[in-house]
Amino acid sequence: MMPFALITGGGKGIGKCIATELAKRKYPVLLVARDEKSLQEHATTLSNTYGVAAHYLALDLGKVGATQILMDWITSNNYHVGILVNNAGYGLSGPFTKYSANDHLEMMRVNMEVPVALTAALLPMLTKNAPAYILNIASSAAYQAVPGLTAYAASKSFVLSFSRGLRHELKNTGVSVTAASPGSTDTNFANRADVGVKALKTAEKVNMTPEAVAAIAVTALFNKKPEVITGFVNQLGAFLVWLLPKKLAESIAASLYGL
Ligand SMILES: NC(=O)c1ccc[n+]([C@@H]2O[C@H](COP(=O)([O-])OP(=O)(O)OC[C@H]3O[C@@H](n4cnc5c(N)ncnc54)[C@H](OP(=O)(O)O)[C@@H]3O)[C@@H](O)[C@H]2O)c1
Repeated sequence: MMPFALITGGGKGIGKCIATELAKRKYPVLLVARDEKSLQEHATTLSNTYGVAAHYLALDLGKVGATQILMDWITSNNYHVGILVNNAGYGLSGPFTKYSANDHLEMMRVNMEVPVALTAALLPMLTKNAPAYILNIASSAAYQAVPGLTAYAASKSFVLSFSRGLRHELKNTGVSVTAASPGSTDTNFANRADVGVKALKTAEKVNMTPEAVAAIAVTALFNKKPEVITGFVNQLGAFLVWLLPKKLAESIAASLYGL
């Protein structure tokens, strides 16, 4: 039997579409997120449509100890994982001071700590099941500081740097690591981040669909690419950020978020 693909945040948005892409390729899937209903619906759709096993666990990955609960679920069910997709994540937009320290720390747990903890816990199994793959969902915000999404952008820089470093370390293990960086994508992300009207209107002009983003990310994973920025507009954006003085790139971003 094919090893399982574990997708955090696999019931909605980009993660849901990544789960579909992998099920299409006949990978059985494990979906983890908070909302049980969307997980159950997507697991049922995937097993009915693609004939793969699809299991789910409703779990808040922002809570301390969540990774251990997830690992206990994997171990007690004897699931063999060959693909880890660290996709669950969210942003908090507006001034840094709009949120409590705990709000920032909980976001950092989901965006940064959980991917690191899951990678550490699953690496022995991934190595055993090689060829195996890790796909980390970063962001176009990983390539610059973004006033108005300050802690979020920093968390995604972490994801990108962590992915590249780990990939190098694992080069002789049969475990490949890919970072995929979407730009604005038509999901619930902007709502949850409480993004203001100006940033929303700009995003609408360049939004990609989560299906398109997932297809690019999963192709990059199987092609063992170190890093992919989804879509030409986002690639151009990252190039301009590299070209422009940092202060200017940061001022442009700040104005989008009303700062
Ligand atoms: N959309 C964009 O414009 C964009 C751009 C760049 C990068 N990204 C990144 O893409 C990834 C997916 O986001 P998306 O755009 O698909 O947004 P989304 O539709 O809001 O999906 C976020 C996913 O993460 C899960 N999640 C969030 N908090 C969680 C928690 N505490 N515990 C467990 N699961 C949690 C959500 O499931 P539940 O709500 O059921 O928990 C959902 O499945 C994120 O890492 C995001 O940072 C998005």
